[in-house]
Amino acid sequence: MAIRIRRARSADTEELTRIAHAAKRFWGYPEKWIRLWKPDLTVTSEFVRNQVVFCAVRGSTIVGFYALSGDGQRRELEHMWVDPEAIGAGVGRLLFGHLLRHLRRQGVTKLMIASDPNAEGFYRKLGARRAGSIASRPAGRRLPLLVVDLPPRRSACRGR
Ligand SMILES: CC(C)(COP(=O)(O)OP(=O)(O)OC[C@H]1O[C@@H](n2cnc3c(N)ncnc32)[C@H](O)[C@@H]1OP(=O)(O)O)[C@@H](O)C(=O)NCCC(=O)NCCS
Repeated sequence: MAIRIRRARSADTEELTRIAHAAKRFWGYPEKWIRLWKPDLTVTSEFVRNQVVFCAVRGSTIVGFYALSGDGQRRELEHMWVDPEAIGAGVGRLLFGHLLRHLRRQGVTKLMIASDPNAEGFYRKLGARRAGSIASRPAGRRLPLLVVDLPPRRSACRGR
């Protein structure tokens, strides 16, 4: 069945939160770390109302989502999760392609990603570059910091 991407709604937040937790557990982290990260893995109605959140939907089932924050020419990737049942089937690529088109339409030139270490290869495959690392939790853990550069679009001049 085809996958479409739509804006997330307040009614989706429970399912988005479930997917974020399930996807993070995909890497086998200890449950005490999952509990520590719970606030970061929880999607609230307020967040969905105020931030850019898009989900991939097969039929009426959400199979993944992404979320952005920030403004101006720069955005941060807050969420990128695929339901473990759909991992490895192209949903992440679809979501990331949608995300990049959205950013280009908004005139954004830089996307920052504090990536899970296990997902770095995914982002690099889709055009991100390593820019450093960033402190995370628990204490001492660091995450790869990745950047996607989006060159500003040249305006087309009529009659040329
Ligand atoms: C990382 C994630 C979003 C990727 O989504 P996905 O639907 O599994 O990825 P896709 O099937 O669209 O893969 C796209 C390409 O990236 C590659 N890829 C996917 N995951 C990868 C990974 N973890 N490491 C390296 N390459 C990866 C695939 O091989 C594929 O390449 P190909 O088209 O040349 O075969 C998804 O696996 C996920 O949610 N993982 C668990 C949670 C997580 O870590 N999220 C990111 C938080 S920063």
